[in-house]
Amino acid sequence: MGSLRTWRRKVIVSLLSTLALVPSTLAHPEPVSRAQAHPLLSRGINETLPYRDASLCIEDRVEDLLSRMTLEEKAGQLFHTQIQMGPNGTLDLGNVTQRRNSSENMIGEKLMTHFNLVGDVVDVRTNAEWYNRIQERALQTRLGIPITLSSDPRHAFTENIGTGFAANQFSQWPESLGLAALRDAELVQKFAEIAREEYLAIGIRTALHPQVDLVTEPRWARIANTMGEDANLTAELVVAYLKGFQGEELGRHSVSTITKHFPGGGPMENGEDSHFTYGKNQTYPGNNLEYHLIPFKAAIAAGARQMMPYYSRPIGTEYDEVGFSFNKGIITDLLRGELGFEGIVCSDWGLITDTVIRGQDMPARAWGVEYLSELQRAAMVLNAGVDQFGGEQRPELIVELVNTGVIPEERLDVSVRRLLREKFTLGLFENPFVDADEAVRVVGNSYFRRIGNETQRKAYTLLTNNDNMLPLTASEDTKFYVEGIELSHLEARNMTLVSTPEEADLALIRLQAPYEPRPGGFESAYHAGSLEYNATEKARQAAIYAAVPTIVDIYLDRPAAIPEIADSAKALLANFGAGPDAFLDVVFGFEGAQPMGKLPFDLPRSMAAVEASKEDVPFDTENPVFKFGHGLRYAEKC
Ligand SMILES: *[C@@H]1O[C@H](CO)[C@@H](O)[C@H](O)[C@H]1NC(C)=O
Ligand SMILES: *[C@@H]1O[C@H](CO)[C@@H](O)[C@H](O)[C@H]1NC(C)=O
Ligand SMILES: *[C@@H]1O[C@H](CO)[C@@H](O)[C@H](O)[C@H]1NC(C)=O
Ligand SMILES: *[C@@H]1O[C@H](CO)[C@@H](O)[C@H](O)[C@H]1NC(C)=O
Ligand SMILES: *[C@@H]1O[C@H](CO)[C@@H](O)[C@H](O)[C@H]1NC(C)=O
Ligand SMILES: *[C@@H]1O[C@H](CO)[C@@H](O)[C@H](O)[C@H]1NC(C)=O
Ligand SMILES: *[C@@H]1O[C@H](CO)[C@@H](O)[C@H](O)[C@H]1NC(C)=O
Ligand SMILES: *[C@@H]1O[C@H](CO)[C@@H](O)[C@H](O)[C@H]1NC(C)=O
Ligand SMILES: *[C@@H]1O[C@H](CO)[C@@H](O)[C@H](O)[C@H]1NC(C)=O
Repeated sequence: MGSLRTWRRKVIVSLLSTLALVPSTLAHPEPVSRAQAHPLLSRGINETLPYRDASLCIEDRVEDLLSRMTLEEKAGQLFHTQIQMGPNGTLDLGNVTQRRNSSENMIGEKLMTHFNLVGDVVDVRTNAEWYNRIQERALQTRLGIPITLSSDPRHAFTENIGTGFAANQFSQWPESLGLAALRDAELVQKFAEIAREEYLAIGIRTALHPQVDLVTEPRWARIANTMGEDANLTAELVVAYLKGFQGEELGRHSVSTITKHFPGGGPMENGEDSHFTYGKNQTYPGNNLEYHLIPFKAAIAAGARQMMPYYSRPIGTEYDEVGFSFNKGIITDLLRGELGFEGIVCSDWGLITDTVIRGQDMPARAWGVEYLSELQRAAMVLNAGVDQFGGEQRPELIVELVNTGVIPEERLDVSVRRLLREKFTLGLFENPFVDADEAVRVVGNSYFRRIGNETQRKAYTLLTNNDNMLPLTASEDTKFYVEGIELSHLEARNMTLVSTPEEADLALIRLQAPYEPRPGGFESAYHAGSLEYNATEKARQAAIYAAVPTIVDIYLDRPAAIPEIADSAKALLANFGAGPDAFLDVVFGFEGAQPMGKLPFDLPRSMAAVEASKEDVPFDTENPVFKFGHGLRYAEKC
C-alpha cells in the first residue's frame, strides 16, 4: 500500500489528466447508490444478500457469491465468446446456418456472463439499448450476475471479425502502429482515455487489447495492431495504454485490459499466422524469447489485469511444443511463477471446438494436441493455469470434468474468484446499465473525433521527399492523376483531374502494402506472404513513375519491401491508418498538417533478406531500405 502522499499525488495526477482530456459534461456519471438502485436490480434477486451489499469489501462479496454458486453457474463463468446484437437492438435469436447460438441460450441456459461484441457499431443508441437488454436478461438469472462485455479494437481502420472493427461511430485513429510512430506516451494515454470513455458509454468493460507482440518477423499478418519492432518502445507505450484504459487503479470508471499475446506472438515460423493449421509453429532460431517478454514485464508492473496467450506452439525451446494456452510451463511456471502475474488468463478464441468462420471450416486451434478429445483439451487448458476459454461456449465439458473427478471443483473456484473480483471491481453489480442519451453524446463527439483526425495526420511518416516536393503548392491548373482516392474528396478541393499519367503534371497514388491474397471468407482478411509487389504490379507502377512526378502513400500494415518506390517516387509517405482527407491535408500541408511519425520497424530490402533473417530477432534483415526511427520533416518555411 502506498503512503498518503503517493495516494494524494496519484489522485491529483489522475484528476489533472482527466480534466485536461475530457470535458466535464462528458465524464461518466457516478453509479447510482443502493438506495436509489435501478428498479431492475431487485428483479428476482434477494437484495439483502451480502454479495449485493456494496458496503462490504470485494473479497467478502466474492466469497459469499462463490459459496452460493452451483457447479453449472461456475462453469458458465469460464466461457467468454462472441455475442451479436439482433435487429434493432433486440436479443440475438441465433442463426443455425451461421452456427450461432441465441443470446437467450448463452445467458439463460449456459449461464455465461462474458461476451465479446462482434459487428460494427452503426447506431450508438441502438447498441446502448441492446446492452441494457442483455443486462436485464442477466438480472433474471438465479443470482443476477451481470454481464461483462468486451471488444477487439474499434478505433481505427481494420475490419476483420477475428481482430478488430472499423471505427464507424467511434472517433477514428491510426492503428496502434501509428501511435508507436509518434513515440509519445502522453498521446497514447490520451487515446486510451478517449477510447475508454467511448467504450464505457455503450457498456464495453474489457478491451481485448493491447497487442504488444514484437514485429521481429515482418511477414506476419497481425502487425497493424502492435506497437512495432522495438521492445523498449512497446514497453514504454503499453504502460501509458493500460493507464488510459484502466486508470491508476481498476474501478467503476475503468475498462479492464487483456494484454496479448503471451509470450509474444511475433516470431511466427515463415511469418504465417497460427489461426491457421500451416501457421501453428512459433520459432526461436535466435534463442531470443526473453526479448519478447520485455513488454509483458512492463505491463505486469503497470497493473495489467488480464493476459491472453497466443494460439501458437513454441518450437525448439525448453517448453513443450503445444499451444501456449495448453502449456503449463508457459502459463503457470513462466507467466504466473517467474513473472508474478496474478490476474486473469483468457485463452485465445476457439481452442476446443471445430467451427466455421465466415463460411470457412476452422479446426480448433489445439496445436500440438490435435489428437486429444474436446474434454481432454479442456482439462489440459485448466491444468495449464488458464482461467477462461475464449471463443467457446461449452460449460457442459467443465461440469463433466468435475463430475467425473478429473478436475476438482476447487480448481474452478480459483478462476471464478478472479473473474468475479473483476466484475465487482468494475462496479457492475452496483449498476450494470448505461444511459443511452449519454452514449449518443459521448461516442464520436467532435472533440474525440478531432483528436483522432489530427493523430491520423501526425502519424504520417515521410520516407523520401526529393527536392522538398512536399508540401505541394499546386494551383487550380495543376493536372493530377490519382489512384486510391474517391472522386468526391478530390472534387471538394477543386483539383483538376486527368485519366492517364501522361496527361498529368503530378500523380498521387495511395497503395496498400504488398501481400499475397489467401482464399476463404476468413483467411482472406489476413495479409500474409511476400512483402514485395509482384512483377506485374512493379511494372505497372514503374510506368507511372517514369511518366510523371509521383507522390506515393503506402498503408504499412506490414513492413513492405519497396526499394523501387523509394528510388522512383518523387516523395514517399507511409501511413498506419489514415483517411483520404488526412492524406490530402498532409500532402498540401493544409492548416499546418505535416508528417511527424518515425518508422516503428525496419523496412526490409527484399524478400530474400527477410527469408534469411531470424523470426525472433529484431532489426536483423540485411541492409534495410529504411531503418526503425527514420522519418523526415517538411522543410521550415522562411
Ligand atoms: C434474503 O436474504 C436474507 C439474508 O440472507 C434472508 O434473511 C432473507 O430471508 C432473504 N429473503 C428472501 C425473500 O429470500
Ligand atoms: C426496425 O425498426 C424499424 C423502425 O422502427 C422498422 O421499420 C423495422 O421493420 C425494424 N426491423 C426489424 C427487423 O424489426
Ligand atoms: C442466417 O444466416 C444466413 C446466412 O448468413 C442468412 O442467409 C439468413 O438470413 C440468416 N437467418 C436469420 C433468421 O437471420
Ligand atoms: C448451441 O450450443 C449447443 C451446446 O453447446 C450446441 O450443441 C449447438 O450446436 C449450438 N447451436 C448452434 C446453432 O450453435
Ligand atoms: C532497452 O532498454 C534496456 C534497459 O534500459 C537497455 O539496456 C537497452 O539498450 C535498450 N535497447 C534499446 C534498443 O534501446
Ligand atoms: C512445425 O514444427 C514441427 C517440429 O519441428 C515440424 O514437424 C512441422 O513440419 C512444422 N510445421 C508445421 C506447419 O507444423
Ligand atoms: C474527422 O474526419 C472525418 C473524415 O475526414 C470528417 O468527416 C469529420 O468531420 C472530422 N471530424 C472532426 C471533428 O474533425
Ligand atoms: C472550390 O471552388 C468553389 C467555386 O469556385 C469555391 O466556392 C470553393 O471555396 C473552392 N473550394 C476550395 C477548397 O478551394
Ligand atoms: C499481382 O499483384 C496485383 C496487385 O497487387 C494483383 O492484382 C495481381 O493479381 C497479382 N498478379 C499475380 C500474377 O499474382
